[in-house]
Amino acid sequence: MTSKCSSDHVRLVEVGPRDGLQNETRQTSVEFRSELVNRLSASGIQSIEVGSFVSPKWVPQMANTAKVLSKVQRRKNVKLIALVPNLIGLENAIAANVDEIAIFTAASESFTQKNTNCSIQQSFERFQPVVTRAMELGIPVRGYISCVLGCPYEGEISPNQVIPVMERLFKFGCSEVSLGDTIGTGTINTTHALLKAVTAYAQASSIAVHFHDTYGQALPNIAVALDYGIRVIDSSIGGLGGCPYARGASGNVATEDVIYMLEGMGMTTGVKLNKIIDISRFVFTHLQRRPTSRVASAMIDFERRKA
Ligand code: HMG
Ligand code: MG
Repeated sequence: MTSKCSSDHVRLVEVGPRDGLQNETRQTSVEFRSELVNRLSASGIQSIEVGSFVSPKWVPQMANTAKVLSKVQRRKNVKLIALVPNLIGLENAIAANVDEIAIFTAASESFTQKNTNCSIQQSFERFQPVVTRAMELGIPVRGYISCVLGCPYEGEISPNQVIPVMERLFKFGCSEVSLGDTIGTGTINTTHALLKAVTAYAQASSIAVHFHDTYGQALPNIAVALDYGIRVIDSSIGGLGGCPYARGASGNVATEDVIYMLEGMGMTTGVKLNKIIDISRFVFTHLQRRPTSRVASAMIDFERRKA
């Protein structure tokens, strides 16, 4: 299918427990969050973003991430990741024994200010000691860039704004950089232009894509990313998610929808769709609403009609 990478295996990074639940208006309990992570980790998913160690004043939904981690059953092949904005967050993440941390900045100055109360330059000044300490301890560091295709405050973002941020994250020692279409405005053409530019600077194998599905463009954009040889996709159970500091941003692309598309393309994830549908049912029964995932809705309705 693609000329740039021969592997048909895709690694999913499940961000529902963090990106998904950080955007719920109702704070979910530690018990629910840890049960969700336990179910996801038994499903075959190998990377799970469990939560974040940010200020609870800024994102109260992610308070108690340490308690969630303390209740999660560890599995050898499953990496538990947490978002960390600064040294306080890192120390808390270390105490909670995370396998990997993720630092986060953006290609847009305005978004960085709103999200983390600093400029892009200042975000890197905060990260420097975080990355140094994480590396001393052998903790891998993932880097996020938000607003790679559009910003809720500045509008369209060009690849020229993304590349210097990406290069700095790699220079810092990030093992992987996840490109975030935070408000989901990217299209096939803009995704193509971005990935053409970034893959001229970095190996596709060190890049992940993180599409929010606000405009329903996430799957076609992921297909473009696959064509560029990218094999790490962030997704969220049932399509949960959004960013509290990106007005109108809706959920991430749904894990179910990504698996369904990849299976149809003959690609593998190591994750059984049926298991993910069961988890989706568990999540949305708890939240008392329907998943935004089209695949989950269709499969749950089909099973209901059969019963
Ligand atoms: P600040 O207010 O500028 O920080 O926030 P500060 O250093 O002045 O600290 C203020 C207070 O917060 C102090 O407490 C600190 O101790 C405390 P006080 O003296 O007032 O009692 N504090 C902390 N507490 C716990 N954990 C910490 C921490 N740091 C400071 N780590 C800060 C700066 C970065 C902390 C704040 O802006 C923040 O937490 N922002 C987080 C925003 C966030 O989580 N956004 C969502 C995640 S990003 C996202 O969703 C995008 C992504 O999905 C990709 C995409 O889709 O594009 C990744
Ligand atoms: Mg996100």
